[in-house]
Amino acid sequence: DDTKAGVKGLVDEGVTKIPRIFITPSDNLVTRPASDVRFRIPVIDLRGIDNDFTQRTSVMEEILHASETWGFFQLLNHGIPLNVMGEMVEAVRSFNEQPQEMKAEYYTRDLTKKVMYNSNFDLYKAPATNWRDSLFAIAAPDYLDPEELPVAFRKIFPEYSKHVMGLGTRLLELISESLGLNPNHLKDMDCAKGLSVAGHYYPACPEPELTLGVTKHSDGHVLTILLEDQIGGLQVLHENQWVNVPPIPGSLVINIGDILQLVSNDKLKSSEHRVIANKEGPRISVACFFSTFLKESTQLYGPIKELLSDENPARYKETTIRDYIMCVNAKGLDGKSALTHFK
Ligand code: SIN
Ligand code: FE2
Repeated sequence: DDTKAGVKGLVDEGVTKIPRIFITPSDNLVTRPASDVRFRIPVIDLRGIDNDFTQRTSVMEEILHASETWGFFQLLNHGIPLNVMGEMVEAVRSFNEQPQEMKAEYYTRDLTKKVMYNSNFDLYKAPATNWRDSLFAIAAPDYLDPEELPVAFRKIFPEYSKHVMGLGTRLLELISESLGLNPNHLKDMDCAKGLSVAGHYYPACPEPELTLGVTKHSDGHVLTILLEDQIGGLQVLHENQWVNVPPIPGSLVINIGDILQLVSNDKLKSSEHRVIANKEGPRISVACFFSTFLKESTQLYGPIKELLSDENPARYKETTIRDYIMCVNAKGLDGKSALTHFK
């Protein structure tokens, strides 16, 4: 299996032309620069919301509006210390930049493994191969024994995950309340119980215009908290145009996942996004997904009853997150939402 060396392995060999399997057909959509005001992803600041009721209410409105229109926003004053974020990015870098033999121990395509390192987890299903290598690990509810993690992650992974769990819970409270529900509603549905973490490494690409860091997709889980370095490349599909998400130092990118779109009966939007390849690199990002799928969870997720009415009947069937994610994984990142299979 010569994919074991990852995309980084190819780059280290010094390729100047990308192998054919990486070539992605162009979709001919317009890309909006971040300077175009109408196409600027919302930026939301959590400062002061814990002791100022008016501020909290207005932030809740901003979160609701961003989640309904974009499904994406950038978050400031989220409470995760800068040094913890920096160390997490560095852990992804040092894992990927160690000798190939050291990474090989974690190489697998078995999606049920608690730690999985590979390139293109959906290689044999997806129509296009992506210019990135990834390490996946489960942070909750089955806490990993630190010994099971690659050395680079042993110290920082539990610390970063703990902060992300706290922030995710807080965001789900704000989202619940903004929907007119009890603040604990989504938490009580176990929406913040499970957390899986993906550390992505996008090597510099010799022919960036021919491929993608990651193909267009929506996230299958409840909610994603994304940490990225300052290189850029993330784009969100908004009004059928690609919008650049400009990195803001110290911020996090939050996006609504398919399960939140499903339980909100399409009120909140799980938007499609992609990462373009870049001559500059590596680009590093850490995506944290809230869900419960690895536990044998029998919790069913369907449109929340309190949000339904005669005019707004349920648009989806109930599913467990496990079945939902199995559907996402089975089809691979083919650019189509798995939600259509649950109508
Ligand atoms: C992803 O959506 O799969 C990754 C996003 C990123 O790396 O910015
Ligand atoms: Fe994603």
